[in-house]
Amino acid sequence: MKIAPSVLAADYLRLGESVRAVENADMLHLDIMDGHFVPNISFGPDVVRALRGESRLFFDVHLMLTHPRRYLESFRSAGADGITVHVECEDDVAETLREIREMGLQPGLSLKPGTPVERLVPFLPLCGMVLVMTVEPGFGGQRFMADQTEKLRFLKKAAPGVLLEVDGGINVETARICRDAGAEVLVAGTSVFGAPDVSAALAELQRL
Ligand code: DX5
Ligand code: ZN
Repeated sequence: MKIAPSVLAADYLRLGESVRAVENADMLHLDIMDGHFVPNISFGPDVVRALRGESRLFFDVHLMLTHPRRYLESFRSAGADGITVHVECEDDVAETLREIREMGLQPGLSLKPGTPVERLVPFLPLCGMVLVMTVEPGFGGQRFMADQTEKLRFLKKAAPGVLLEVDGGINVETARICRDAGAEVLVAGTSVFGAPDVSAALAELQRL
């Protein structure tokens, strides 16, 4: 299992220290929110650029934006290695995924809990990774939505070559459920950065 700690849950007073504490994870998950596509605002390209100098991890940028296409270049130049957009966004999804790949980045596609997984099918050939949300996007620390794991099983069959990532309410217990449903990358915010010992919490997930 690959682990992608989510910076949204990190200590914003010591962001560099928080990111260094998870340097032996596999990816760093960076949640970008515009206050429109989701009812929260997080951080932008300048924060990603600042963290780029502190970490050698794969920067897994999760754009929860109504118009993600406008920001692809900003996040590429800030140091993104992969950019994930939502199928519910208002840009042309196929064009956006193509543009991410043309930039040399890993194209990812995500869907909200209320969106049927079939909506992704036309775009799967364009995806390097699919991100299944197991909470309503916008905030960390929410309860895991177990019914969403059905989408993992569907995608495992429908898109065997595509990396499967899961995001929201992931801890040691829910991680097992997601692993058994086919997840390969686990995003974990609160369960890692909210733990008294961040490195130990990460190691516990890595032992899965
Ligand atoms: C929510 C974000 C998630 C969130 C995960 O909109 O996409 O990445 O930060 O946080 P936890 O692990 O606390 O649910
Ligand atoms: Zn996320």
